[in-house]
Amino acid sequence: MANIVIIGTQWGDEGKGKVVDLLAEYADLVVRFQGGNNAGHTMVVNGKQFISHIVPSGILQNKICIIGNGVVIDPKVLLEEIESLKSKGVSISPENLMISENAHIIMPYHKNIDLASESTKGENKIGTTGRGIGPCYEDKASRKGIRFVDFIDPEVFKEKVCSVLPEKNFILEKYLSDKALDADSIIKEYSFYAKQLAPFTKNVSVIIFNALKSGKQILFEGAQGTHLDIDHGTYPFVTSSNTVSGNAACGSGIGPKAITGVIGIVKAYTTRVGAGPFPTELFDETGDYMQKKGAEFGATTGRKRRCGWLDMVILRNAARLNSLTGLAITKLDVLGGIKTLKICTGYEYNGKIIEDMPASIKLLSACKPVYEEMPGWDEDISGIRIYENLPETTKQYLKRIEELIETPINIVSVGPGRDETIVINNPLKKS
Ligand code: GDP
Ligand code: IMO
Ligand code: MG
Repeated sequence: MANIVIIGTQWGDEGKGKVVDLLAEYADLVVRFQGGNNAGHTMVVNGKQFISHIVPSGILQNKICIIGNGVVIDPKVLLEEIESLKSKGVSISPENLMISENAHIIMPYHKNIDLASESTKGENKIGTTGRGIGPCYEDKASRKGIRFVDFIDPEVFKEKVCSVLPEKNFILEKYLSDKALDADSIIKEYSFYAKQLAPFTKNVSVIIFNALKSGKQILFEGAQGTHLDIDHGTYPFVTSSNTVSGNAACGSGIGPKAITGVIGIVKAYTTRVGAGPFPTELFDETGDYMQKKGAEFGATTGRKRRCGWLDMVILRNAARLNSLTGLAITKLDVLGGIKTLKICTGYEYNGKIIEDMPASIKLLSACKPVYEEMPGWDEDISGIRIYENLPETTKQYLKRIEELIETPINIVSVGPGRDETIVINNPLKKS
């Protein structure tokens, strides 16, 4: 029995959706445990693309999909996503989609505060997705949030909205020069959503616990990436939740002993959307090549992703922070055609070599990457399904990654499609 967490090791968009969709075939349950619709997870099956923002990426494999207590949910977006999946022939009902009673809901004022506060920051803005994620987690921490269990109880919901809205309107009007919101219209709109989502709302901690007891296999689907983690990322240029593997337990209501492995998703180069330090970022034609060939546009906001070389300082950090037991290397096909590849093995700061990620953003921003060079390959590797058939220089690149992260590669992805994959060792397959 294996219960595996899938984690982004960089700054998000590593290809978590593709790997979760692929491995979900061997799982019984797929659980999202943090983040919200700031995530955009892409799956490509038989040439058809699906992007999920809240519904776990196990849905196409017809597995039980659970949205855990650690997730923040925009009910309107969730309902739209359910409808869009249904229109594409995916069956969704309270039998295969369940939402934690303890998950917090994203309210209209969270979205408005997110957008308005970003625009007041000017140069210092974080470049959030504008989905209200930060303000919703702020309310959760300050105990002003609204949980699903209260959202689906009309009386409690009304009481909570009326008690919190005066403060939100004060901030919106007086501090952010935005418009105030009307309690009655929020209550009317959200009651309509609540009625539709009530049947999906359950005590999912108990459901997961019982599944574990009966020997079912579980995939925990991380969102964002290790360096967007609120504690361990490039703060303040981070998201508002813990994105590391430890939160898979807390954000879904189980204990840490249930987790048997952690697969770190590593894009074969590095990308980042939004602001914040990125030591190996490229501003030349190689960066443009990666951006164009990799179609590096955000799956949620459509923004161009910044691109750069693979960075071992952040990947070693991810291996330690997440207890990685295996790696899935994605988008390796994109590097084909680059004559010389570079891997950053450390940073230079004030004439000294730094091997561990500095906490200070000021210091990190002043770090210069130290590179090791490797020969690239010209071949199109997207049709290869057996590791041995990869070009020698491609295998050398993969071997070097394994050596530097001290973690074995389990999966190599050579294209967006579910089948465009080389599986070396399936962490969920029962032998
Ligand atoms: P996630 O947020 O980690 O799930 O990643 P995204 O879906 O935001 O971004 C990854 C993008 O790369 C998507 O457009 C995927 O379809 C695509 N993708 C995933 N794996 C591969 C791969 O191996 N090769 C190529 N060319 N594209 C890939
Ligand atoms: P997936 O799951 C990439 C980034 C935003 C911004 C910062 C804070 O698809 O990998 P937020 O809206 O969370 O307050 O924004 O975090 N960000 C992501 N970047 N992939 C994601 O998710 C992201 N989710 C948030 O661009 O820099
Ligand atoms: Mg994404």
